[in-house]
Amino acid sequence: MRFKEHFPAIEDGLVYLDSGATSLKPKPVIDALTRYYYGFPANVHRGAYPWADRATREYESAREKVANLIHARPEEVVFTKNATEALNLAASILANRIGKGDRVLVSVMEHHANFLPWMRLARERGAEFVVFNITPEGYVDLKDFERKLTGNTKILALTMTSNVLGTVPPFKEMAKMAKDMGAFVVLDGAQYLPHHRVRVRSTGADFIAFSGHKVFGPMGTGFLWGREEILREGRPLLVGGSMIRDVSVDGYEMEDTPQRYEAGTPNVAGVIGLGAAADFITSIGYEEIERREKELTSKLYHTLRGIEGVEIYGPPPEDRGALISFNLKGVHPHDVAWYLGELGIMLRSGGHCAHPLHKFLKIPYNQSVRASLSFFNDEEDIERLAEGIERVKKAFRLT
Ligand SMILES: Cc1ncc(COP(=O)(O)O)c(C=O)c1O
Repeated sequence: MRFKEHFPAIEDGLVYLDSGATSLKPKPVIDALTRYYYGFPANVHRGAYPWADRATREYESAREKVANLIHARPEEVVFTKNATEALNLAASILANRIGKGDRVLVSVMEHHANFLPWMRLARERGAEFVVFNITPEGYVDLKDFERKLTGNTKILALTMTSNVLGTVPPFKEMAKMAKDMGAFVVLDGAQYLPHHRVRVRSTGADFIAFSGHKVFGPMGTGFLWGREEILREGRPLLVGGSMIRDVSVDGYEMEDTPQRYEAGTPNVAGVIGLGAAADFITSIGYEEIERREKELTSKLYHTLRGIEGVEIYGPPPEDRGALISFNLKGVHPHDVAWYLGELGIMLRSGGHCAHPLHKFLKIPYNQSVRASLSFFNDEEDIERLAEGIERVKKAFRLT
């Protein structure tokens, strides 16, 4: 089976280069949603009848599959609606562990989802919010990081792959340095897990946030992995049904993790679909995914480099994930992406929810065009992109 045949949405002639925003959904994931809605569309953790029992079993079995994918225990996996919610939940859990005089440290290349929760938390708790820099080439400025990683640093929040530059920071080493200072470490794995195996404990982090919808799962899915000893004590974002052991007019007692963090009716179909996505990744295999994406990223980089007027941001292909942001001199990135869209080539333009990074690098318009790959893309997709950019140049009279 050709890799593209797994994805019913991708017809001949269409080129999807926006997997960084959300991945295409493979047939087994779509089938899992249909199976649930046709077969046993009941709520979870409440009914005793057969549909309810089956829905609960499949929901919890999906948690096991997701946990296995990241080499974690099911109790450590909390389902959320996206990575943003997962990062906000991590901030909520850590909220009462920081206060006046403490420091929260993040990189300038974070997605807003891993920037704003920490900025807000620091401000609310009277702590310092400190941002460390990157080099002009797009690597972490380790000297600046070490300088700013002071003894009062209580939280380090760091991406595992920049969604703009593709940079993969040395997150294990940086996590260790932060742990040695007594800080909590929160990683953003949203752009990493679609491409590489993650063994959560070996990262040295306390929390890692993921987007389910970027790892071939349904829209509206994400999850937070956290160390059980911290999750046991944490403050949920929501309180209400399904997360309590007992409630009286005088107070309430919360359930253990992960239930205490999943108040209300969850996205049952989405989670079951996410379980199917974990199976899908396993069936393709990270070795195959990495092998294909390495070749494709290199081809994409060198193809774009060969086009006059294209400026690429970030490190060379051997040091980056499977995405490349660029600008075409003289054309607004939205015009580039719109024109390419008319040619059936789908990619994203804008600030990519990373405004501090665009400002720091002084990228024109504070925006860029981003081509993001998945293992199903092929060389022809990249050639189509190159031809498309040449047509944009003609249309805007640059040649
Ligand atoms: C690096 C990174 N972190 C976090 C997010 C937020 O993910 P979500 O849309 O699942 O909330 C994204 C989404 O693009 C991302 O690229």
